[in-house]
Amino acid sequence: MARLPCTCTNLHLAIAFLCLLNLINYLLLADAAIVEHTFHVGNLSVQRLGQSQVITAVNGQFPGPKIEARDGDTVVVHVVNLSPYNLSIHWHGILQRLSSWADGPNMVSQCPIRPAGGTYTYRFNVTGQEGTLWWHAHVSFLRATVYGALIIRPAAPRGRYPFPRPHGEATIILGEWWNTSVVDVERQALLTGAGPNNSVALTINGLIGAGGGGCGAAAAAAAENNNAAAAAAHQYQLTVEPGRTYLLRIINAALNYQLFFKVANHSFTVVAADACYTDPYHTDVIVIAPGQTVDALMRADAHPGRRYYMAAQVYQSLANATYSATTTALLTYLQDASDSHSRQEQEQQALMPTMPAFNDSATAQSFYASLTGLLQDGAPTVPLHVDTRMLVTFGLGVTPCAPAQTLCNRTRGSVAASMNNVSFQFPTAMSLLEAHMRGAPDGVYTRDFPDRPPVMFDFTSDSTTANRSLMFTSKGTKVKTLRYNETVEVVLQNTAILGAENHPVHLHGFNFFSLAQGTGNFNAHRHVRAYNLVNPQQRNTVAVPTGGWAVIRFTADNPGVWIMHCHLDAHLPFGLAMAFEVDDGPTPDAVLPPPPPDYPRC
Ligand SMILES: *[C@@H]1O[C@H](CO)[C@@H](O)[C@H](O)[C@H]1NC(C)=O
Ligand SMILES: *[C@@H]1O[C@H](CO)[C@@H](O)[C@H](O)[C@H]1NC(C)=O
Ligand SMILES: *[C@@H]1O[C@H](CO)[C@@H](O)[C@H](O)[C@H]1NC(C)=O
Ligand SMILES: *[C@@H]1O[C@H](CO)[C@@H](O)[C@H](O)[C@H]1NC(C)=O
Ligand SMILES: *[C@@H]1O[C@H](CO)[C@@H](O)[C@H](O)[C@H]1NC(C)=O
Ligand SMILES: *[C@@H]1O[C@H](CO)[C@@H](O)[C@H](O)[C@H]1NC(C)=O
Ligand SMILES: *[C@@H]1O[C@H](CO)[C@@H](O)[C@H](O)[C@H]1NC(C)=O
Ligand SMILES: *[C@@H]1O[C@H](CO)[C@@H](O)[C@H](O)[C@H]1NC(C)=O
Ligand SMILES: *[C@@H]1O[C@H](CO)[C@@H](O)[C@H](O)[C@H]1NC(C)=O
Ligand SMILES: *[C@@H]1O[C@H](CO)[C@@H](O)[C@H](O)[C@H]1NC(C)=O
Ligand SMILES: *[C@@H]1O[C@H](CO)[C@@H](O)[C@H](O)[C@H]1NC(C)=O
Ligand SMILES: *[C@@H]1O[C@H](CO)[C@@H](O)[C@H](O)[C@H]1NC(C)=O
Repeated sequence: MARLPCTCTNLHLAIAFLCLLNLINYLLLADAAIVEHTFHVGNLSVQRLGQSQVITAVNGQFPGPKIEARDGDTVVVHVVNLSPYNLSIHWHGILQRLSSWADGPNMVSQCPIRPAGGTYTYRFNVTGQEGTLWWHAHVSFLRATVYGALIIRPAAPRGRYPFPRPHGEATIILGEWWNTSVVDVERQALLTGAGPNNSVALTINGLIGAGGGGCGAAAAAAAENNNAAAAAAHQYQLTVEPGRTYLLRIINAALNYQLFFKVANHSFTVVAADACYTDPYHTDVIVIAPGQTVDALMRADAHPGRRYYMAAQVYQSLANATYSATTTALLTYLQDASDSHSRQEQEQQALMPTMPAFNDSATAQSFYASLTGLLQDGAPTVPLHVDTRMLVTFGLGVTPCAPAQTLCNRTRGSVAASMNNVSFQFPTAMSLLEAHMRGAPDGVYTRDFPDRPPVMFDFTSDSTTANRSLMFTSKGTKVKTLRYNETVEVVLQNTAILGAENHPVHLHGFNFFSLAQGTGNFNAHRHVRAYNLVNPQQRNTVAVPTGGWAVIRFTADNPGVWIMHCHLDAHLPFGLAMAFEVDDGPTPDAVLPPPPPDYPRC
């Protein structure tokens, strides 16, 4: 009698063990999937603002296709360029570990995919990242219409969100609309050496909605008349069930403007930014800079009989500027069709949220400064030892008009933008990464990007504005070379030379820890004490306060060449960029492999 249970137990143990082995196998092997897409990029005719217009778009869709992957998957995208323009695509926020070749910025990681049939296959792994990212063109102004969401869910089958599972989710991509070719807008800006024309409207999921200085008149009129079908063609609409919680995946794909986002009579709990989990942060306003994403839970807890606008409005950070715009989408509650009372209620005018003042920098700064990172087992923690410290000043300035700038005012000069007084010049013969790989940077780039600004001055004082001795920038294609695994701290310091403005600075190839931010000039003695070294947020794009600074830290554990630039497209072609060159490490898993066979060359 005594032995039987024992045998039984052994058998059960053996079965349990086999099950466990299978489970481990399943967890480790069975789940990494290959997510494959083909992007045909070409002309698409769309109706907006009462006119038909040709835009560049992917697979005839605007916004472009959503890429959905899980942590651990491999993403493969075959891009076929049928458009009339040079093209490259960036997978914004993807770390691209050991796959710098697939990063995408034109002339930095690759030469463009040539028009009329050029192809390139981007191949990369998504590992250790979860949340909302996006993809966009990284050449000229094409990203105005060539963009889409890139969503990474926790690994199957066991991964889960570090917050209660939402009932549903919605992707909300905010953008800007020009009623003319964006390539022409950029070309004109470069020829005149002046800023590009403003967009004529904002968009939510590619639709213009109501608002926007009268530009959204069609949607507004349709909404007023309760012509649901007509309104839906102009305005994005989200329907929710009362009492449920939804995950909003908000992406700012606008070219040049930061945005405030609100939903009337609803509030949010922010749970992630730039696909890095945050501590839950409760707010009724989301502030989001071009390049950034926010994952926010929204409980559908308002009166279900009414309709509510969600609204995006420009946050204008440029000192004394007056331009602003607003657009809307509609939030409605699922109604019982037989409930005629609530149908009548729903026919009332939708409620509009009260938006912050368009120049409310205090609200913007408070949002950005309130986010902290969620501490999780196994997630990266902030490096406490720093090998290299840099102070990088940046903003706008001027250069003498170049001969090619045929429409440039020679008395005034051309707008230029710079970091540490170097206005970044994109190479023309070969990409930075290809030159790096060949070990032959001569004639393509130099390794003398300075660790500090060449001249110290009162960076953010109004008295520096239009000071001619500070205004002129030098030009160059300079990189900062980093040893593999070096830890780097960068103080990003805005200047006020042509007016103070909040610049969203985006680093490719890494998430960085955002330790502190503030207004005025960074002061090591006073501000180091304010560093959050416990649970700082991680991001790939930091909105550096207007007339202020932000401090970031990262570990250079990803070999390749990585651009760091302002994500306002009005500033990038004028040179608000620099690049890090990260050397290979000592072990095979720290060496950048050679480029793929179809790598585009110039
Ligand atoms: C695409 O549109 C551009 C601009 O309207 C036009 O010049 C070009 O011919 C079009 N290309 C094709 C293949 O339709
Ligand atoms: C991506 O993951 C696959 C499978 O684990 C691996 O074979 C491949 O080398 C990885 N690619 C890169 C660029 O790391
Ligand atoms: C574009 O929009 C602006 C502002 O609404 C308007 O003045 C202009 O005429 C429009 N241009 C075209 C080509 O429709
Ligand atoms: C930019 O705006 C100016 C002034 O409204 C207009 O004359 C010009 O044609 C616009 N440029 C482009 C490329 O649309
Ligand atoms: C919406 O919010 C406003 C302002 O807080 C409030 O006055 C109004 O009663 C709310 N409406 C509904 C339907 O909840
Ligand atoms: C915001 O703009 C308004 C109206 O243009 C102006 O009166 C106010 O001073 C501005 N506020 C800030 C903080 O610049
Ligand atoms: C050129 O710039 C100067 C200095 O800013 C200005 O006074 C002049 O009016 C401009 N000329 C033209 C034609 O816009
Ligand atoms: C311009 O800046 C330089 C360098 O800081 C300074 O020496 C000079 O006094 C400033 N000029 C004016 C007019 O403020
Ligand atoms: C930047 O460099 C230019 C050219 O060397 C010089 O004239 C200017 O004073 C410098 N500006 C700053 C802010 O360092
Ligand atoms: C990189 O740094 C990490 C953390 O400091 C360390 O564990 C690792 O061994 C380093 N790798 C190399 C190749 O130096
Ligand atoms: C903004 O306006 C104020 C008050 O008119 C002025 O003192 C300041 O110089 C202006 N700033 C810029 C960057 O134009
Ligand atoms: C397109 O790219 C090629 C190769 O880099 C370059 O020679 C050409 O000038 C580019 N065309 C435009 C319009 O930028």
